[in-house]
Amino acid sequence: MSIAYLNGSFTPLSEAKISPMDRGFLFGDGVYEVIPCYEGQLVAMPYHLERLNHSLSGIALTSPHSEADLLEMLLTLVQKNGGGNLGVYLQITRGPTMKRQHAFPEHCQPTVFAYTFPISEPSDGSTDTASCFTAVTKPDKRWERCHIKSTALLGNVLHMMEAVEDGAEEVLLFNEREELTEAAACNVFIVSGGAILTPELDHQILPGVTRRQCIELLQRYTDWTIETRPVHLEEVLKAEEIWLSSSTKELAPVVKLNGVAINEGVPGPRWEAAQSLFQQYRFSDF
Ligand SMILES: Cc1ncc(COP(=O)(O)O)c(C=O)c1O
Repeated sequence: MSIAYLNGSFTPLSEAKISPMDRGFLFGDGVYEVIPCYEGQLVAMPYHLERLNHSLSGIALTSPHSEADLLEMLLTLVQKNGGGNLGVYLQITRGPTMKRQHAFPEHCQPTVFAYTFPISEPSDGSTDTASCFTAVTKPDKRWERCHIKSTALLGNVLHMMEAVEDGAEEVLLFNEREELTEAAACNVFIVSGGAILTPELDHQILPGVTRRQCIELLQRYTDWTIETRPVHLEEVLKAEEIWLSSSTKELAPVVKLNGVAINEGVPGPRWEAAQSLFQQYRFSDF
């Protein structure tokens, strides 16, 4: 039985209830984190807490819990769900309200919800264990605040459906200058002329914890050229390798883009080396 945390209590997930007047439900007025946990150990927790704080301040919401309390609650939740390999979902919304009005109400008690779901450990960096993706390219039609990890994900959901409708598993998004932003649920890296390129952080992309870990690992353990800069569609279409990054996937190779094979349809050598660094160092303090 899956155990959830809701507003101070641990309860079976199937019994957790929130008000239909919760602003998270009515407006998507909330923020969230997804933290991977392997053998009961949370990954990159300081980075997740730092981003949670940025997301909360981005929507002018104060967490009802201190960082220490949140951490303790999440560790207890992991234990109650048997430890092991879990994705930990944490959501804080502005909470329930009496009246549906757009402006923030004066008094609102935030809703804090967390639950876990099973995940498998990402690849060790070998081609045999890689989870490979197919993707398509599309114009990014989301809002101008993609740096906030908001629960209001309808834009991302609709983009993911564009991928599904085209028979692909992810979508690489491009702004009006045809520069890469990110994917519907991941950040993106490409290998071009041997260099590792990824868009710089701004309002168009989520500051991914895995993106941050990847850059730090590559800077520390390789002598590769790593550039955070605008990445044009033309460079992506000609890339030697394309990687998706997210907390539960770490680095996943894109092996087909718009129906065309990348690196002959198999994960590339740079991906193998980068993902095996995650395998070795995912728990290290960066
Ligand atoms: C839109 C988007 N970009 C990037 C990411 C990757 O972020 P992280 O590495 O922190 O999981 C996610 C993860 O859910 C996402 O939804």
